[in-house]
Amino acid sequence: MNLPSFALLGAAPAFERPIPVGQLYFPAWDRYEAAFRGIFERQYYTNQGPLAIELESRLQAFLGVRHVICVSNATIGLMMVAEAMQLRGKVILPAFTFAASAQSLSWTGLEPVFCDVDKHTGQIALDQLAGLIDDDTSAIMGVNLWGGACDPLALEALAREHNVQLYFDSAHAFGCEVQGRKIGNFGQAEVLSFHATKVLSAGEGGCICTSDDQLAARLRNIRSSYGAGHAVPVVKTSNGRMSEAQAAIALMSLEDFPANQANNQQQYEAYASGLRNVPGVSLTVPAGVSFSNYQYLVCNIDPAAFGLPRDMVMDLLKAENVLARRYFYPGIHRCTPYVDDFPQYQDVLPQTDALCTSVMQLPIGALLTLDDIARICQILAHAQQHADAIAQAMQV
Ligand SMILES: Cc1ncc(COP(=O)(O)O)c(C=O)c1O
Repeated sequence: MNLPSFALLGAAPAFERPIPVGQLYFPAWDRYEAAFRGIFERQYYTNQGPLAIELESRLQAFLGVRHVICVSNATIGLMMVAEAMQLRGKVILPAFTFAASAQSLSWTGLEPVFCDVDKHTGQIALDQLAGLIDDDTSAIMGVNLWGGACDPLALEALAREHNVQLYFDSAHAFGCEVQGRKIGNFGQAEVLSFHATKVLSAGEGGCICTSDDQLAARLRNIRSSYGAGHAVPVVKTSNGRMSEAQAAIALMSLEDFPANQANNQQQYEAYASGLRNVPGVSLTVPAGVSFSNYQYLVCNIDPAAFGLPRDMVMDLLKAENVLARRYFYPGIHRCTPYVDDFPQYQDVLPQTDALCTSVMQLPIGALLTLDDIARICQILAHAQQHADAIAQAMQV
């Protein structure tokens, strides 16, 4: 590829249509038709219907968890858990996470305490956690990032030692295992996302996993009176119900999980081999898991070794119709309202800040073939080889 063939510099894009980063594993139309015909025949569309009940019981079996409470999305699941666990005061979480992790605390009147992360894995920095716990700390929220895990066993030991509660934002971790134990089985509760970009998709959706009967009863009542079972008293209720349409999609997606996970893994390996010799690009290996869903393809761009800063690499890919993303940017501690309410975190999270400027998420999942991945790797390799000329042409 010669310099003029980059789309950013005027050539035709490498891909005709934009390729987003998300999984987008949706089954073929005939399976939808059959599932949705059933919903219409039963005329039972929501309110903990037969498909929502079936999904919960299948997930309980698949994850090996005592209670699975399906919800309309993981964000409301996190809010419900904070309320049901009756947390007070402060909750420690990594600053390098999606807004919903911290926002769920704001919705429930809790103060976030931002912890830095490990520079290689992006997972919460275990060695810094104990120093952040004080008398007002009621819980730690671990975040299992990118098909990896934040060492939930070590977190369980730490939470026990300091007598604080522990739960997990496991939005990225459906199907992952730590020492052979499935995500969903750690801490007091875990929240998983079934958003369309996740490997288990309900279009929108999620679930809460717990083995605590009392907590499960409170969660069911907070979700809705439908499916509450024996209603226990709770102060706040919400609407976190999963519709039958969502449950139908999730049931099909659960059936497809082994094939979709295998496809992700093959794609991950294709990226790993295609980018192995590209200076300045390092692929993130799913950390701390014995089995990964390979849900995200995340790499770090080292501008000195690559020759271009991450954002310029993303612009270059975008022009080729490869919709790479920053993940997460600029760090939740730098977002409203936290940047104003908690200015003490501005310059004390060096690894979070560094990752926010270097991490780039690339497409993986249903919309890609191995040939596409080879082409994306080739674009990156050529961009690196011509970095000086590109930078000059773009007047960096
Ligand atoms: C770490 C994390 N937590 C929570 C969420 C929220 O999930 P949902 O979109 O299902 O509300 C996301 C969404 O991607 C996420 O990345």
